[in-house]
Amino acid sequence: MPGTPAHPLPAMPPAPPDHRLSVAPMLDLTDRHARYLLRLLTSRTLLYTEMVTTGALLRGDAARHLDHDPAEHPLALQLGGSEPADLAACARLGARWGYDEINLNVGCPSPRVRSGTFGACLMYEPRTVADCVRAMLDASSVPVTVKTRVGVDHRDSYEELADFVATVADAGCRTFVVHARKAWLSGLSPAENRSIPPLQYDRVYRLKRDFPDLRVALNGGVTRLAAALAHLEHVDGVMIGRAAYEDCYLLAEADHLIFGEPGPGPSREEVIQAFLPYVERQLAQGVPLARMTRHLFGLFHGQPGARAWRRHLTEGAAHPQAGAEVIREAARHRQGGLDAPPPRQNPPTDARSNPRH
Ligand SMILES: Cc1cc2nc3c(=O)[nH]c(=O)nc-3n(C[C@H](O)[C@H](O)[C@H](O)COP(=O)(O)O)c2cc1C
Repeated sequence: MPGTPAHPLPAMPPAPPDHRLSVAPMLDLTDRHARYLLRLLTSRTLLYTEMVTTGALLRGDAARHLDHDPAEHPLALQLGGSEPADLAACARLGARWGYDEINLNVGCPSPRVRSGTFGACLMYEPRTVADCVRAMLDASSVPVTVKTRVGVDHRDSYEELADFVATVADAGCRTFVVHARKAWLSGLSPAENRSIPPLQYDRVYRLKRDFPDLRVALNGGVTRLAAALAHLEHVDGVMIGRAAYEDCYLLAEADHLIFGEPGPGPSREEVIQAFLPYVERQLAQGVPLARMTRHLFGLFHGQPGARAWRRHLTEGAAHPQAGAEVIREAARHRQGGLDAPPPRQNPPTDARSNPRH
């Protein structure tokens, strides 16, 4: 065939989706309902599932973990495990379910994760991670990426991080998401490991400088898109975790500011209106309302009436027969709270019994 090279180049691993901005995998938070909601705020930001262990997928109800709405793409599946054969089988499942990327968790320091020999403790075993990545790449055509930390325990020099990345890159991983904090595997809880070890952005920047052919995305402590833009001067991508969930409306400007799409983003009211048909569909399939409304709590973060909004969602969704009208009512309630006259200067001592307070 004309144009076919005499010596075909080695097959390149498929390119992963655009990593300029992503929302972090977060257990118990980034479930399919949260992701659908986030997708209404931004169509370009890459979304991640919660971590799913190989055991849960291979011995549990795979469909329950993997099913998602087509609207959620671009979407990455995060796996937890350290057995190459198991991870390969899970990568195949991920491919069959249509995920755009499979990510291996090498950053989570929870005790449950440690006992299973996966997560951040795998930073001690770069060759095992390389074997896992190779097996996953051989098993499917979906790009494989790794999420890791800048270090773990006393294995925390830049040279050790670079050695880890070089070893895993040799196996075919081209994209690394690096949480800019090291993890202490003993002595700190998972939550403390997300706030106490200092952020070391310079290390992530240096990694990109030293491995210019790899895609490096930075994670940890980013709470505004302006900060993400500043990091993008040094790295290929930024992953936002807690802030993207707790203050999700910040993502409404992401398509415009990060990806250069025409603005403006959707209003909060537009997001609510677009979420309602999804909620109706899920209710019809037997999903309890509270599983969806809990992800709406952050939509009015920092806005007037945010407490009324959250309270109405919580109380309304607690009723077994509650339907999507709870969300409409919560929006009205919030608005009503805004329009209400300001509280009296000297409120009665039992002010808390008044639902307006
Ligand atoms: C509630 C919660 C659950 C998390 N679960 C996961 C997980 O399943 N997999 C993972 O790699 N990281 C997990 N993380 C860590 C985040 O992905 C992210 O690395 C961390 O929160 C730092 O980013 P941030 O400062 O932007 O929140 C979790 C974080 C939180 C707060």
